[in-house]
Amino acid sequence: MPAGLLDIESLSRNDVEAILARSKFFQPAAGQTFKRLDTLRGRTVVNLFFESSTRTRTSFEIAARRLGADILSITAAGSSVSKGESLVDTLNTLGAMRPDAIVMRHSASGAPHFLSRYLPIPIVNAGDGTHEHPTQALLDALTIIDRRGSLDGLRIAIIGDIAHSRVARSNIFLLSKFGVQIVLCGPASLVPSELASIAPGIELTTDIFKAIDNAHVIMMLRVQLERQHEAAFPANEYFQFFGLRPEHIERAKPDVIVMHPGPINRGREISSEVADSQRSAILNQVENGIAVRMAVLERVLMQ
Ligand code: NCD
Repeated sequence: MPAGLLDIESLSRNDVEAILARSKFFQPAAGQTFKRLDTLRGRTVVNLFFESSTRTRTSFEIAARRLGADILSITAAGSSVSKGESLVDTLNTLGAMRPDAIVMRHSASGAPHFLSRYLPIPIVNAGDGTHEHPTQALLDALTIIDRRGSLDGLRIAIIGDIAHSRVARSNIFLLSKFGVQIVLCGPASLVPSELASIAPGIELTTDIFKAIDNAHVIMMLRVQLERQHEAAFPANEYFQFFGLRPEHIERAKPDVIVMHPGPINRGREISSEVADSQRSAILNQVENGIAVRMAVLERVLMQ
């Protein structure tokens, strides 16, 4: 079975460090644009997105091109998936065209794992249901390391709809490999206690002030309404209890970093004042996505 990148859980700390080191290498120097390289010349990557995406899909496209690969993007709405073709048939069809790797996003948790058992082509998971989003956690780690130097000794608050967030799960797996102190915060209905068992010492709270107290990083999450089958918390009260606002930043560490994987909903999980402030690393995360995906594609295709 070819090794793609399906999740963070099965990576070792060394694997993560190797990908992050290579990502650093691909980061452009200040004021420069990304270099265009020939590393993957002649290789073809298929981006197959069964769920909507702006950042992740574009970022994989740019990353592949910067490495000299050809990449084509297929979205479910414009493909035969909308004509009722099954996932396995779509993937087999694409597999018969022999791309060198498939980057896929799907609403079913485990879809890329399932397909990787059938297809002789490496698969990179760009988000599967509520399960994992490995490149997001890697780019988040790179962004934190850029600002803090390392992950050592950090306390990181992850706030919002934890239950439906593949970003939260991948981050919990990654950060716990580095001994980061993690606190998960959100409405009780959206913070499943099972997540605390991923690693020792994970704290759970419904009090945002407790979560941000002494945190070096605050990671906000989008309320994933598309995955909530019944309203988990009254929409009009969410911002009052869990929306990040200037009054929270005033109570946090003076150099706290605010992150969000995007897309952000201003006035629901974060206020504009905070999203656009000096403390926000949201656009740095987007930029780092390209370097991280270059490192991942290189690793997957050059093995
Ligand atoms: C995230 C996703 O799709 O999981 N977005 C992203 O990839 N940047 C988070 C989200 O949709 O809320």
